[in-house]
Amino acid sequence: MPIEKNELRRVMGHFATGVTVITSIRASGEMHGLTANAFSSVSLVPPLLLICVDKKAESYPCFEESKIFTVNILASDQESLSRKFAVSGGNKFEGVSYRIGANGAPILNGAIAYLECKLAGSMDAGDHTVYLGEIEQAETHEAKPLLFFRGGYRELGD
Ligand SMILES: Cc1cc2nc3c(=O)[nH]c(=O)nc-3n(C[C@H](O)[C@H](O)[C@H](O)COP(=O)(O)O)c2cc1C
Repeated sequence: MPIEKNELRRVMGHFATGVTVITSIRASGEMHGLTANAFSSVSLVPPLLLICVDKKAESYPCFEESKIFTVNILASDQESLSRKFAVSGGNKFEGVSYRIGANGAPILNGAIAYLECKLAGSMDAGDHTVYLGEIEQAETHEAKPLLFFRGGYRELGD
């Protein structure tokens, strides 16, 4: 008997993570972004990472369409951005400081790191799709990370 959904969410919440906003852009030029912590490094050579995206997310069609995305790792003072990008739909970029990266996706200013990717593969996985990204450019910025643990935002040292 598989574990129940809410219990799984509760248990998985015990794995402390950083928080990212994954951005992409549709062929129409419409920018998308969603808060995500299902993110992992996968391979160094070639440089690969993975993200898991809910099939019900508004930004879901973006990834196959554009074949690019950028992972923005949020700083501790970017909790409001995390909350904003965790609400479905609308123009989430209004009032947000960003620039367009080399791959065409938005980079959020103030993020502690960003990784620009081109889509390198995908795997159907239940109600999510796992996307592999090949990392083309990445940069860091000195600041404290935003953390997520047991359903709440945290800072290092809490
Ligand atoms: C801390 C946190 C982590 C999340 N991680 C993911 C994730 O890894 N994948 C995902 O699809 N949604 C994740 N979500 C939920 C999405 O951010 C949320 O469904 C969002 O509304 C999707 O935006 P969209 O519908 O505009 O694409 C997370 C939300 C929070 C607050």
